Parts: sequence; C-alpha cells; structure tokens
Amino acid sequence: MRNRIFPCLLLSLLTVLLFKASSQTHIPVPKHQTDALNKLIFDPRTLRRHVSTTAKPILTSLSNLPVSKMYSQVGQKENDKIVKLPGQPETGVNFDQYGGYVTVDAERGRAFYYYFVEAATRGSDGGADSKPLLLWLNGGPGCSSLGYGAMEELGPFRVMSDGKNLYLNPFSWNKVANVLFLESPAGVGFSYSNTTEDYSQNGDTKTAQDNVVFLVNWLERFPEYKGRDFYIAGESYAGHYVPQLAHAILAYNRQNKGQSINLKGITIGNAVINDDTDTSGMYDFFWTHALISDETISAIHKNCNFSLDSASPSCDSALDGADTVFGNLDIYNIYAPLCMNQSTTSPPKRPSIEHFDPCSDYYVDAYLNTPEVQEAMHANVTKLEQRWSSCSLGNPSRPIGS
Ligand SMILES: *[C@@H]1O[C@H](CO)[C@@H](O)[C@H](O)[C@H]1NC(C)=O
Ligand SMILES: *[C@@H]1O[C@H](CO)[C@@H](O)[C@H](O)[C@H]1NC(C)=O
Ligand SMILES: *[C@@H]1O[C@H](CO)[C@@H](O)[C@H](O)[C@H]1NC(C)=O
Ligand SMILES: *[C@@H]1O[C@H](CO)[C@@H](O)[C@H](O)[C@H]1NC(C)=O
Repeated sequence: MRNRIFPCLLLSLLTVLLFKASSQTHIPVPKHQTDALNKLIFDPRTLRRHVSTTAKPILTSLSNLPVSKMYSQVGQKENDKIVKLPGQPETGVNFDQYGGYVTVDAERGRAFYYYFVEAATRGSDGGADSKPLLLWLNGGPGCSSLGYGAMEELGPFRVMSDGKNLYLNPFSWNKVANVLFLESPAGVGFSYSNTTEDYSQNGDTKTAQDNVVFLVNWLERFPEYKGRDFYIAGESYAGHYVPQLAHAILAYNRQNKGQSINLKGITIGNAVINDDTDTSGMYDFFWTHALISDETISAIHKNCNFSLDSASPSCDSALDGADTVFGNLDIYNIYAPLCMNQSTTSPPKRPSIEHFDPCSDYYVDAYLNTPEVQEAMHANVTKLEQRWSSCSLGNPSRPIGS
C-alpha cells in the first residue's frame, strides 16, 4: 500500500527547519505535500539528522496518563451521525457513519476529528453489534487516517476523479469490523488545537496520551462499544503510534480497573520500526528491482550504517547513486504510473479498484475540501485557517505532528 511516509521525525520544529534547508540544497522543491514527505524522508542523510534520542522516555512517561480529561458526551453521538455523504452511491450503503470532534484537552481547546463506519449488515452474520472495533492510524508523522486510510485504502468509499462522487470499495474492512479512523495528533487533517503552541509540542508521547484520552471519551460517546474486542491497526509511522498506544492503553487499564478498553491485538503494515533495517532494506529492494546498480549497492553496503547518528561522507556519496530513484517513480508502487496531471476530471473517469490511479490524492483533496462535504461530516466546525491536507508537513504554519 502506498503509505507514503516512513521515518522518524521526532522534533517537529527542527524538522520544519531542516526541511527548508534541505529543499534549498539538492532536493527539488516539491509541488505536493506528499511528495514533500517522500523527498524529505527518503533522503536518509536528512533523516539521520533528525533522529533524536528523545523518543526513548516514552515508556516511562506513559505511566502518567491524564485520565482526568473525561468530558460529557451526552447527545454527541446523535449529533455526529452522518446522514449521507455528498456523492455517495444511492445503493449498497448498508452501514451507519459518524463523524465529529472529540475534545482531548478542554483547557487548551484541543480536539481530534474522527470518522467512524460501522460494520456492514450482511445476511445472517449480524451487523455492527457482533463485530469488533478497530482503530486505524496512518503515519507520517503528520498524515491523515481519513485521507489515506478511509478514502484510499480500507474505508468503504473511494473518491472518483471528479472529486465529487464516491464509489464503494468491495474490500472495505467494515465488512468485518467497526472501523474508526482518527486524525491525530493536533494539526493533522481536521484535528486542531486552539492553543497554537500545542502544534510545536507534538511528539510520540503526547500523541499516545491524547489518543488514549480520545478513546476513553469516544467510548463514553459510543458506550455500546465499551468492552468490545478492540484492535489497533496502522501503517508506516504508525509502526510507532500503534504499539505506543497499545502500551498506553495497558497503562490506562492498570490504573482504571473496571473501565478497561478490551484491547485484543495490534497489527502494523509497512511499519517504521527500526531505521537501520528499514533503510538498508529499502536500498536492497531498489537493487533487487534493478533500480540501482551493482556498484551503488556495493558502495552502500560498504560505507553506510543506517542506525542512528552514523552519517558519514563516504555513505553520502554512496547514496548519490540512489538519489534518482526518488522522484522518478513511486517508491511505494514501483510498477504504477506517476500522476502527471493533478486536475480533477468531469465527468469522472470510470473508477477501478483493481487499477490504482496515481492521482487519487488529488481527488480526495478536492473532496475533503468541499464545504458541503465538511458540513456533512461535521468537520472543520471551527473554520480552521488552513485547507485540509493529507499530510501537514511542508507548510510551516502547520504543525507536523511528529
Ligand atoms: C476552539 O475555539 C472555538 C472558537 O472559540 C470554539 O468554538 C471551540 O469549541 C474550541 N475548541 C475546543 C476543543 O474547545
Ligand atoms: C551500525 O552501528 C551500530 C551502532 O554504532 C552498531 O551497533 C551496528 O552493529 C552497526 N551495524 C553494522 C552492520 O555494522
Ligand atoms: C490536465 O487535465 C485537465 C482536465 O482533463 C485538462 O484540461 C488539462 O489540459 C490537463 N493539463 C495538462 C498539462 O495536460
Ligand atoms: C475550514 O473552513 C474554512 C472556511 O470555510 C476554509 O477556509 C478552510 O480551508 C477549511 N479548513 C479545513 C482544514 O478544512
């Protein structure tokens, strides 16, 4: 799957600064934020410079969860019911949808946007009531589970090339689970904070803590899911988010006996876990797919150690031979075409689940930035300044949510 984003940008401000610096040197200025992330993140030289050991304290700091942030959820579920998404198919939508905000910090005015699709009713196997609850997280850091997970990957709808109409995804995960898509941390997608300072304080620990607060409050809003078998799934940088959230939930459950979130399992795909093997594996993949030469991979093997803080000039020059791969093709899907025209098309092209359309990001972007869509989804109720975007990196006025 095209989970764009990979590695570990742990210091948000620093990342923005370095992004600016690197785009002035050898990385071309990207036109789209997704490209921005790819170009930034897949330059391991840039990557290594961001890596900081500040990730390490997470395990201890999570034992101190802000469990006091419980807010009244009375009447909110009903308000969040999505009657119908603009452009959704007239038939075949045999499930309920909800969307709205859950406050995770009332004092600072921080609220996370979620989109929830209940399990489809299908014959005798029961509907939502008999199925587990699954939380889906995209990565980045800074990318939207609504834009990618829900609208391009495992959600019930895909956006047509006109940016207006939706079609059904026959492989949607809500055939087997009630799926909750969460935009986190603050500053990602429609999620926001009224305290601007929050954006520069994002990080793994805070994300995990806020996500527990989100979940506990969400379960108050949807009490029928309390105690339900619960799974967390995600991809890419969610290789960090998912296990960290699981850890935070276990800590929460220890402190709040009788209120437990019934966590059954986690699953991560194409996950960012370990720079050393992730990055060298990527270059080996390039080589075994004839994207870089024998000489280049030998030089990389000889000169590079991708574990933390081990940049070296000899590795840098070995990597020069691999630079062209980025930008010339979609490294997440090397056999797919690139998007050559970002316009939406009306009437829409014939949609196809089987044949990946590399311009899908632009259709989703158009759709989610449509005022009627936002209204139907109960999103952007506070009239945020910036547009919705799939990843929040690349615009210095926005946080990157590392
Ligand atoms: C943020 O501020 C807006 C405008 O004052 C307000 O309507 C909204 O409820 C605030 N958000 C939170 C989570 O408190
Ligand atoms: C890379 O460096 C790390 C830390 O210095 C070291 O533990 C590891 O063994 C090195 N890897 C290789 C393949 O040399
Ligand atoms: C992109 O597609 C639009 C809509 O189909 C078309 O009007 C436009 O000319 C195309 N642009 C380029 C550069 O091909
Ligand atoms: C929110 O709404 C405002 C006003 O309509 C719009 O300018 C802005 O782009 C929207 N922001 C998001 C994140 O959707």
